[in-house]
Amino acid sequence: MVNNFIEGAKEAGAEVEYIKLKDHNIKECTGCYTCWTKTPGRCIFQDDMTMFRKKYCEADLVVFESPLYIFNVTGIMKTFMDRLLPIMKPYMLLDENEYTLHPDRFPEAGEQGFVVFSAAGFPNVEHNFDGLKGMYRCWSSHSENMNLMGEFFLTAAEIIVHPVYAERKNLIAHACHKAGKQIVEEGKINIELMQSVQDPTVSIETFQQQADAFWESLDGKQSYMVSNLKIT
Ligand SMILES: Cc1cc2nc3c(=O)[nH]c(=O)nc-3n(C[C@H](O)[C@H](O)[C@H](O)COP(=O)(O)O)c2cc1C
Repeated sequence: MVNNFIEGAKEAGAEVEYIKLKDHNIKECTGCYTCWTKTPGRCIFQDDMTMFRKKYCEADLVVFESPLYIFNVTGIMKTFMDRLLPIMKPYMLLDENEYTLHPDRFPEAGEQGFVVFSAAGFPNVEHNFDGLKGMYRCWSSHSENMNLMGEFFLTAAEIIVHPVYAERKNLIAHACHKAGKQIVEEGKINIELMQSVQDPTVSIETFQQQADAFWESLDGKQSYMVSNLKIT
């Protein structure tokens, strides 16, 4: 999904940098608030987040990509978000909706958009993505200049690689490509493109049968169904 989005954006003239967080040194936030007090804007850790915070502030559009892990982003993505604290100031603002927010430390960077991509194993969007979606929607509504521009949620993601779903895979690739192009050219993404990605690939019943058959096929012994193992 994201590769296609990037290709579309590049075609429309965007300069894109792709960063894989797991390849980088990103320590966890300790909640010391030194970045808000003793050294405003500067974290106690001088790791790769120093460079990423700069890139983040300078970007016109940030694309967050994470598989759905326990109904939210991966741990490293959450750590990345936590470590953005230095780019905010500690003071509290109330916006026109009475949402509390922290002012931008670098408002000269201007308005910024962001788009969210996630893929999940379960076949339903309802409930499954609530945590991830809620986090990013709050990130948008409780910030001064960050605006959520798009959400792409793929369900039953593991089966999409099966040749029988090639047509659906192409449709998703095409929608993401078009969305990447559209956001650069028009500054928005059509809701239909996002919806087409999250339309169910199969019925829940079919999915359940295929998923169970897949796990069973891994060793042919149905050991995945064993329920009397001791916790080790
Ligand atoms: C630790 C872990 C937690 C997961 N939690 C969920 C979950 O809460 N909901 C869900 O639908 N799928 C869950 N999955 C399945 C993944 O979202 C699914 O395999 C997805 O395809 C991963 O994306 P990827 O193929 O891009 O790695 C989980 C997988 C792992 C390994």
